[in-house]
Order: sequence, then C-alpha cells, then structure tokens
Amino acid sequence: MAVRCSGHVNEGDKTLTHGTQTTVTYQGSVADTETKNDDRLATLVQNYDAAFRLAFESFALGTTDSPVRDGEVLELARRAGITRGSRVLEPGSGSGGVSRLLAREFKCDVQGIDLTPFQFEEAQRRAETAALQDLVSCSLGDMEVFDYEQEAYDVAMDVFSWIHVPDWQRLFSLLSGALKPGGRIVMYDAFLAPAATDETAALVRDAWLVRICAVDDCTALLEESGYRVIHTQERGRQVLDNWRGGLANLREKEDEFLGRFGEDAYRFFVETSAWTIGAFEREELTAAQIIAEKA
Ligand SMILES: C[S@@+](CC[C@H](N)C(=O)[O-])C[C@H]1O[C@@H](n2cnc3c(N)ncnc32)[C@H](O)[C@@H]1O
Repeated sequence: MAVRCSGHVNEGDKTLTHGTQTTVTYQGSVADTETKNDDRLATLVQNYDAAFRLAFESFALGTTDSPVRDGEVLELARRAGITRGSRVLEPGSGSGGVSRLLAREFKCDVQGIDLTPFQFEEAQRRAETAALQDLVSCSLGDMEVFDYEQEAYDVAMDVFSWIHVPDWQRLFSLLSGALKPGGRIVMYDAFLAPAATDETAALVRDAWLVRICAVDDCTALLEESGYRVIHTQERGRQVLDNWRGGLANLREKEDEFLGRFGEDAYRFFVETSAWTIGAFEREELTAAQIIAEKA
C-alpha cells in the first residue's frame, strides 16, 4: 500500500518502506495543510498497526510499546506524585501498557487515548484480561483535537508518544485545560542532543515520523505555555541501553518474527533500530524525563 505523507522534509521527495505493507512517500511541499495532516495521521495509524505492536513484544523490555523499562515508568510516576486516587490522562497510550502499570501499582484511575484502532482495541482487551477495567479506560481519538474533560486530571503522561505531535504549543495549551490547578505534565521521550546534525534530525523525523527538538526547547515551550518545569533528567544512556537490549531480543527471535511478519517488517524494525542506536551512540539523540506543573 502506498501512502503519501508530507511535512518533514523540505528538499525533494523521499521514499521509505515501513513494515510489510506500507510505502511512504514524503513530499516537501503540499499547500493543503488539512490533507497533509490527514496523510500524516493515516501513516501513523498504519505504522502502529499489528506488526508494530507485536514487534515490540519480540523486543520485550516489559509492558510498554516504547524503549523503556517498567521500573523507569514507575519511578517517574512516583516522582511526579501519582498515588492512589490520582486521575491520570495518557494521550498516546498505545496498547495500554503504561496505563495498566500505573493502575496496578498505584490504584490510580487512568484514561488513555490512542489514534490507532488496533492499539485502542488491544488496550481495552488487555485491561479486561488484567481485571483493571474499573481503573483503566481508553478512548479512540486524536490527542491534538480531543475534547478533554476540563480541570479533571492530576497528571498528563507521555511515554514516547508526543514526539508524533507537530504542534506542542497547542498540545500543552489543550492539556492545561484538562489538568486541575497544580496538575502536572510528565514526559519521557526522545530529544535531539547538541551533537545532532541537520541530516540526522531530518532522518529521524522521517524514519519515526516525529516532531523532535532539544530538551531545552521543550522546557522553554512548557514555560511559555504557563507551566513551571520542576524536574528534568537526561536518560540518553539508559534509553540507548534499552534499545540495545530490545534489539538483541528481537535478533534472538528472528526465525519466529520472520515466520509471523516476513522479511520486510523484520528488516525495517532491525535496521531502523540499529540506525537509532547509532545516533544515540554518537550522542546526536538523547532521551529525557520532564515534569512540569500547571501554574
Ligand atoms: C511508541 S507508542 C507508545 C505507546 C505507550 N505510551 C507506551 O509506551 O506503551 C506511540 C503511540 O502514540 C499514538 N499516537 C501518535 N499520534 C497520536 C495522536 N495524535 N493522538 C493519539 N495517539 C497518537 C500511536 O498510535 C501509538 O500507539
């Protein structure tokens, strides 16, 4: 299937093959922003379909669909003050691994939102299987335009999802409406490190369809959007280690993976992971945790 997507590359067109079925053509100049946005979302949905989710099961660092370990998510949540009875919003909740972890550990209430129907259905199914449906709920939707309940949440949590959202200023402002006074944004995501070249930045935007910036740019944007940044922690070495561990797991399960998804999906996941690991090793990419409080 061929999908046209635009917005990340300014010079000429590029073509990448994603997974088994998707060829994405990135186009540098499309005037119609609405079409552009629809295409971007359609590509995201295709990329996060079943093969991705199950690739992450082979990657298997824990419960999440991200290059993070369960203990890290729980430690960050503790630092952010999540406790029994907290109301947590998780825009970009994927198959609900983070939501279930938080609900199981803290007995808090978690509302996930995800754009990809496959992930949304998995999240619902898995919450029921884990008997967590009273604490975890999930909506199918786009976090960039979601009709959030106002002043309802203690925490809005991001684990490697908001990098897909192009306009963080708008997202932070929307989430400010959803958070209670003193509520917190909690992010664990990938960022550009000081050594990043323009070429690496463009490549990573292409490969993962992300909006990526430096940690300082993100914290400045949070402050401009009316939040007070109360914690930042660089996690580049940890995420590098996680990626390496996940890729080693995937390689060990090569035969099983090839049998289920075929060579294209395997090659895409392995090559993109290897390339990403290289960028972390060269300290062009990093990861960070950020906690910011609504003023
Ligand atoms: C790398 S996964 C992480 C999922 C989850 N946070 C975890 O760690 O397990 C990113 C998720 O973000 C979702 N996503 C991307 N853009 C979105 C948007 N605009 N609205 C809602 N979900 C989105 C994708 O569908 C995907 O499931």
